[in-house]
Amino acid sequence: MKDNSAMTILCMSSYEKGQEFMRQCKRDGCRVILLTSKSLENADWPKESIDEIFYIPDVNKEWNMRDVIYGVSFLSRTETIDRIVALDDYDVEKAAALREHLRCPGMGDTTARYFRDKLAMRTRAYEVGIPVPEFIHVLNYQRIKDYIKRVPFPYVVKPRLQAGAHGINKVHKEEELWKKLDALGDEQSFFLIERFVPGTIYHVDSIISENEVVFAIASQYGKPPMEVAHEGRVFTSTTIKYGSIDEKSLLDLNKKILHALGLLRGVSHTEFIKANADGKFYFLETSDRVGGANLAELIEAASGINLWAEWAKIEIGQGKKTYELPNVRKDYAGIITSLAKQEWPDLSSYNAAEVVWKMKLKYHAGMVVSSPSYERVKSLVENYTQRYYQDFFTPQPMHDKPTA
Ligand SMILES: Nc1ncnc2c1ncn2[C@@H]1O[C@H](COP(=O)(O)OP(=O)(O)O)[C@@H](O)[C@H]1O
Ligand SMILES: [Mg+2]
Repeated sequence: MKDNSAMTILCMSSYEKGQEFMRQCKRDGCRVILLTSKSLENADWPKESIDEIFYIPDVNKEWNMRDVIYGVSFLSRTETIDRIVALDDYDVEKAAALREHLRCPGMGDTTARYFRDKLAMRTRAYEVGIPVPEFIHVLNYQRIKDYIKRVPFPYVVKPRLQAGAHGINKVHKEEELWKKLDALGDEQSFFLIERFVPGTIYHVDSIISENEVVFAIASQYGKPPMEVAHEGRVFTSTTIKYGSIDEKSLLDLNKKILHALGLLRGVSHTEFIKANADGKFYFLETSDRVGGANLAELIEAASGINLWAEWAKIEIGQGKKTYELPNVRKDYAGIITSLAKQEWPDLSSYNAAEVVWKMKLKYHAGMVVSSPSYERVKSLVENYTQRYYQDFFTPQPMHDKPTA
């Protein structure tokens, strides 16, 4: 292996994210190339840590794979690309396809599919005995009819790959389902149906080195993300109690699913539902990336671990250098974000000593609180959430999907 000073990392990010990943690569002496969307030319990229930026023409941040292959192949006339990393969910398959095309090491098409395709990840989870809401691919009508007989409504009809254009829809009865499928037409096979499981949604964010989960932290969303996205709500998430039974169950399931899907190294954001009906955890979805919606800030506030930077170290090390996790703090943290009616909402009266981060984004209010006390974090999150509704909240669906 080359030493880091000679290693060239190609970061693919169709969205504005992953700055800390690139900074870490630079700190570790890598040559950093960023491939991003043309429409993000003026985004806040850490230019001091990037050697070259290449822009791909995009329509709403969507790239044409042919453009990506042409662009990176052209680049390769003069660069030797050692690693390709997808920083956003939407880039995962493109990065895998590019690795296959250039014969570059790292996750290929088959494994990437498990981390992007909700049908593939569910099928695998089910095979290894992890509870999942009953699901069926929208493909064969007789099988769908059998499913309807077997599984009670309501259902959700959801895209296998977050296509963005078609979101997740809840359907309450059979006619409504067929109408929905009809409307999908030829897009049907890109969807799946699953039982809507009322409950609380949790996420486990982890770091994986050589197939082992070396760090994992479990948090609980306030309102379910679907309610936040569809109805407009204040979005919150809070670290769950260390050592609790729920924590143990979540960390065990997280390990099991990541092993089953074969994640060799990197980071993961994985979600579960705790069903109101039976108190059991059901696997919802996973990914091989840092969670969106500023969850990296939440996790750093609780643990001191910056997932972007750790991911960069693991990606650079490639298992050839033993990964060493920094010291983990066992504090608690909570995040509260919302769309705001004001262009620059005034957060100055949210001034508890526990406020460790504030969001700087137009028409958004957001902050992270942290404390060694679970009760303190919980009560601050509850209190601030109520105040957000008074001070900033505006009932429009979020632009960005909170969990994406
Ligand atoms: N089977 C289900 N039962 C209950 N709620 C669900 C179910 N599937 C999805 N949801 C709701 O929709 C949200 C988004 O679903 P998810 O599968 O995580 O897709 P996304 O990629 O959009 O995050 C979840 O956080 C949850 O609120
Ligand atoms: Mg989700």
